[in-house]
Amino acid sequence: MAVAVPERRTSLHGQWSSRFAFILAVSGSAIGLGNIWKFPYIAGVNGGGAFVLVYLLCVFMVGLPIMMAEILIGRRGRRNPIATMALLGEEEGGSRHWGLIGVAGVITGFLILSYYSVIAGWALAYIFESASGAFVEVDSAGVDEIFSGLSGSWIATGFWHTLFMVMTTVVVSRGVERGLERAVRVLMPALVVLLLMLLGYSIIAGDFAQGLRFMFEPKFSELTRAGALAALGHAFFTLSVGMGAVMAYGAYLPAGASIARTSVAVICADTGIAIVAGLVIFPIVFANGLDPAAGPGLIFQTLPLAFGQMPGGIIVAVLFFLLLTFAAWTSAISLMEPAVAWLIETAKLRRTSAAGLVGVTTWVLGFLSVGSFNVLANFRLFGRTLFDNLDFLTSNIMLPLGGLAIVFFAGWVMSRNSSADELDPAAGPGYRAWCFAARYIAPVAVVLIFLNAVGLF
Ligand code: PFF
Repeated sequence: MAVAVPERRTSLHGQWSSRFAFILAVSGSAIGLGNIWKFPYIAGVNGGGAFVLVYLLCVFMVGLPIMMAEILIGRRGRRNPIATMALLGEEEGGSRHWGLIGVAGVITGFLILSYYSVIAGWALAYIFESASGAFVEVDSAGVDEIFSGLSGSWIATGFWHTLFMVMTTVVVSRGVERGLERAVRVLMPALVVLLLMLLGYSIIAGDFAQGLRFMFEPKFSELTRAGALAALGHAFFTLSVGMGAVMAYGAYLPAGASIARTSVAVICADTGIAIVAGLVIFPIVFANGLDPAAGPGLIFQTLPLAFGQMPGGIIVAVLFFLLLTFAAWTSAISLMEPAVAWLIETAKLRRTSAAGLVGVTTWVLGFLSVGSFNVLANFRLFGRTLFDNLDFLTSNIMLPLGGLAIVFFAGWVMSRNSSADELDPAAGPGYRAWCFAARYIAPVAVVLIFLNAVGLF
């Protein structure tokens, strides 16, 4: 196999101002609806404890090596994910066809964004709903009514989806560094403070003991094959790995920054926020006799109850949904960036045109998900709504397969010279641990969970 170490390339789209800025950007991508909306709801649907355990194992044993692989590939190629995979594929003595992994990633991001924006639209709508005082002293029937008023109307849900897509497209069309870095710097810490406040509320007013038990007492009898696959899929989804978003951001990472330390920081922040979100939501669910398996509406039907009862609840609620919207925004931007970077580099489009094109196409596709909660609610494919199908296909199939291919490439196709050059083996046993995880643990875990899901073992 090849390779002389190539000269350092530079990105065509500029560079993050520091390693810290990169950590913020990748955390901004990772921390989003996945942590606060999706994690509690799928943990609830899949029975809690055992699911959470598999999820945590997947995050650290599979997600971490894959995140490192994506960053190192991204930084080495310094192009959009499609061009980077093709370039490195060729350079490492493989083939330019590795670019197809990038193509699959761009398509996955586009599909995810189409339904992600619909849920983000609900968060946006709830800022105004909270501000109007609609949640003051509301009971669970009242909360239900407000939520179904929104989700049951394709016009209302479609309107907020449209607004969110416009917001995302505008930021991406301006370029990632300007504005975004600064916004994330303030907003992420604010989100943490607010979540901790809500945690305080749920400890005092919720059924905290039962919430804890639900999340951390592993009842393996309740873990289904589909649940294990969902835990794997969610590990990819929440870390934004498996589709090239982190690879695209890695292309803008300054040369000397440590990839291992960066990845560990991002993963700890992401996991911490998901766990706290669960510890906020489940105690409220149990204290109010709600169903933890309520599905996608879970946070929209539980948190307003808490806001309605606490002093200053209106302000806390407005702030919470504002920050949730921001968290979703920084993730949505990263879902769009690979496709836009690719259009700029290949079709030579201007950034505004590229972002506009991707934005409009995603917006149109998003109406399949908008309709899944109202006019298309009874339309089932494989027993699921279109929204659930898109989520299942992308999270549970496309992201794990994409991640498998990426980590296989980094572990087996790239020469050790190349990966060591990016990962800095001087940092100690960490490099060897990464090699082992990338070559064996992550691929074997993904394959096993897949085989398990289809009933082959
Ligand atoms: N990680 C984001 C979240 O947890 O909300 C969602 C996401 C962003 C998934 C970017 C995939 C991605 F490439």
